[in-house]
Amino acid sequence: MDAIRIRGNGPLRGTVRVSGAKNAALPILCATLLSDGASRLRNVPALRDIETTAALLRFLGRGVDVEAPIVDVAAGADVKPEAPYELVKQMRASVLVLGPLVARFGRAKVSLPGGCQIGARPIDQHLKGLEALGCRIHIERGYVIAEGPGGGGRLKGNEIYFDIPTVTGTENLMMAAALAKGRSTLVNCAREPEVEELGRVLNKMGAEVEGAGTDVIHIRGTERGELGPFDHAIIADRIEAGTYMVAAAIAEGGDVVLEGANLDDMEALVVKMRAAGVEVASEGQNVRVHRPGPLRAVNVTTAPHPGFPTDMQAQFLVLMCTARGESVISETIFENRFMHVPELQRMGASVALRGNTAVVQGVDKLYGASVMATDLRASASLVVAGLVAEDETEVRRVYHIDRGYEHIEQKLRSVGAKIERVRGAEA
Ligand code: EPU
Repeated sequence: MDAIRIRGNGPLRGTVRVSGAKNAALPILCATLLSDGASRLRNVPALRDIETTAALLRFLGRGVDVEAPIVDVAAGADVKPEAPYELVKQMRASVLVLGPLVARFGRAKVSLPGGCQIGARPIDQHLKGLEALGCRIHIERGYVIAEGPGGGGRLKGNEIYFDIPTVTGTENLMMAAALAKGRSTLVNCAREPEVEELGRVLNKMGAEVEGAGTDVIHIRGTERGELGPFDHAIIADRIEAGTYMVAAAIAEGGDVVLEGANLDDMEALVVKMRAAGVEVASEGQNVRVHRPGPLRAVNVTTAPHPGFPTDMQAQFLVLMCTARGESVISETIFENRFMHVPELQRMGASVALRGNTAVVQGVDKLYGASVMATDLRASASLVVAGLVAEDETEVRRVYHIDRGYEHIEQKLRSVGAKIERVRGAEA
């Protein structure tokens, strides 16, 4: 298994290009199933989750050619609407094929994803929404079996109320409602920019989606077979950009330009970065991040968008490890998303965990250690910690990082980090 070795060596300086958004690309790849035509996706990052989605689409019967940053999905209507456990267990977002498959083919059999390292992550809201559209759902031997009305008929538009805003749940239901008969109204939707982006793509395909990116989405369904293919370049990855923003600020004097980052999608993070004493400014199509002096401690509570993203909690917590004073970081989205904390403690961080809250006392210095994490963002946060730790930090099991960060070592090296990948390191 690969590891990443980092030698802490002071501030980063230079320019990093932000890649396309993983969490926008995944639902949009699944949306290709709504049309029988050939679609092209541009600005797709070279990531393991993209490969996994491509493998899933191929399993279903579509030809997919991944040549990052371009992914082509070939035309084809001969689809076997079944997503096996082997693929779904590798990536929970595979559940995003459920809505398009049952809407387009009247039937879908998709493995239940099960729990994951950051929490139980149920999909009850996805299933309840599909039932509201007339699906009959049952669970059989670990699989969700969904059938359109009357044993495979067209879904029927309806009002769907989400008990909590769910990103992939909103996306699944948007795709299903796009082919349902009549109008659907989705209430208490997730407002993430990736949801808005999916709305844009569905409209390009000929759907009528209004309000994506707000908490109420109206969709007028289109006949099966009437949604066309699309050619679309996806938005910049706000979480990757945010991670490099924190990396730029982790050492005093850091000064990094994030090429293609979109500050409009990152407001909550930017407010907290500025409160901590980091300068963040738009410069044309880019964003400049500069840390002129010591960091101040600030408190953060994660919340659905436009609140502070749970996907930036681990990285921000690392930033607070060497800030002056005490910061309180609360995680409200996932119940087990502090796995970076024990690893950071091994690097000399002073963090006390109390339920869903971490209390961080800033220390003068972190020390390099051998660490590992079991999820994507936690692993990235450890790499960022390594940038300022004394001596060498080895982050193990970096396959998590490869799910969501394109060429992370090259990008960090290009702004001055001493970082290398060690192939086949001890797990
Ligand atoms: N939830 C339910 N029932 C449901 C669906 C969700 O109780 O049917 C709960 C979840 O357990 C969680 C909350 O609702 O407590 C929000 O979860 P959500 O469904 O929004 O998460 P997700 O759609 O599974 C996406 C991202 C995650 C990101 C979360 C939160 C994708 C592919 N994944 O997951 O990204 O953390 O939204 O913003 O879009 C990552 O990229 O590292 C990552 C984990």
